[in-house]
Amino acid sequence: MVSRKIKIDLEYLRPNNSFIYPLYSKTGEKVLESRVVLTAEKIAQIEEKHGRILYYTDTGERAVIPAYRMKIAYNKSREIMEEIMSTEKLSRTSVREAEKVVEEIVNDLTTTDIEAVELLKDLKSHDEYLYNHSVNVGILAALFAKSRGNFTLDEIKYITLGAYLHDIGSTRIDRQLLNKEGKLNITEVQKMKRHPQLGYEILKNIERVSPIVLQSVLFHHEKFNNRGYYGLPYENLPDFPKIVSISDIYDALTSKRPFREAVSIEYALKAIVNTIDVHFDYDIISDFINKVAPILNHSQSFYAKNDFCELNTQELAMVRDLGQKDYLKPRVTVFCKFVREGNRLAVNFYQKPVQVNLDEDTERKLSKIISNEAQISAIKKKLEERDFF
Ligand SMILES: [Fe+2]
Repeated sequence: MVSRKIKIDLEYLRPNNSFIYPLYSKTGEKVLESRVVLTAEKIAQIEEKHGRILYYTDTGERAVIPAYRMKIAYNKSREIMEEIMSTEKLSRTSVREAEKVVEEIVNDLTTTDIEAVELLKDLKSHDEYLYNHSVNVGILAALFAKSRGNFTLDEIKYITLGAYLHDIGSTRIDRQLLNKEGKLNITEVQKMKRHPQLGYEILKNIERVSPIVLQSVLFHHEKFNNRGYYGLPYENLPDFPKIVSISDIYDALTSKRPFREAVSIEYALKAIVNTIDVHFDYDIISDFINKVAPILNHSQSFYAKNDFCELNTQELAMVRDLGQKDYLKPRVTVFCKFVREGNRLAVNFYQKPVQVNLDEDTERKLSKIISNEAQISAIKKKLEERDFF
């Protein structure tokens, strides 16, 4: 593993974050020991003494969730799927063993989170997607549930188990269909959409399976706009399946599939932000972006100054400064508002751009970061025509 020196802006270090590597100043002075949990005071002290730009060396170190534990989780996942495929059922013994695997993963997370996620990359090298994906989604969901700070340890374990087993219903779907390249026809889509229900049926008769596990499996494809697999009302759903669902989407996007390449972490995080008010509510995405994304992305920002974004008020804006306390609350310049006129969408440009600090504005919220190049060029052209640039 080659060591890499990486620059990090102090802006991305948040209270309660810890960092796997020691941080150094521009002059090479060590300013923070590895694994020290940051406080607001400590961040302010570092800024005063050493400025905003720090460095760390990525040595590719792996720790906390040991590789052997990941291997056990991976093998257990495979055993469970094989058991279901050969007997059409899952035994209580297998579920108990899976619970033990998950419990150990959750216990490992009680130390430094950032190191746990490092291992997600390792399993990506295997080509048996479903087993790797199950383990990865389990770890991400454990991390996410823990970071929210409002679940008991037992709840975190059951959310993790639900995440680990979220796609077991896929074992009752034809493998060729699961890995099919290209567009699925309507019948195939209908078959695929049965997997949460099939997973629920596999688990529901097993003695003492927690309702959190069952809900996580059954509802992990429901959406904020009620256009999920079963169209259930989002506001009636508990948070457990939403945690599993966000973890599922993130891991699916960052994994290579037979029909597409993996996307970058930055792209995946933008895509997750763009699910606000479509797939998920703002608050749960805000928690993922502020508590889990910094761990996944080594505390680097996944969007930048001058990026274009949309607000919940149907306004178009440009990022002026990244959020100081909250990644979803940058300072922005707002240019125009989209207004629906019959079947078409009209754009009303403001006389003068409006400067907004999303951290202080109570009406406006970020809902999308625009990453489509053609869209960005078209916006720039329109703004140039109006001398907004
Ligand atoms: Fe699924």
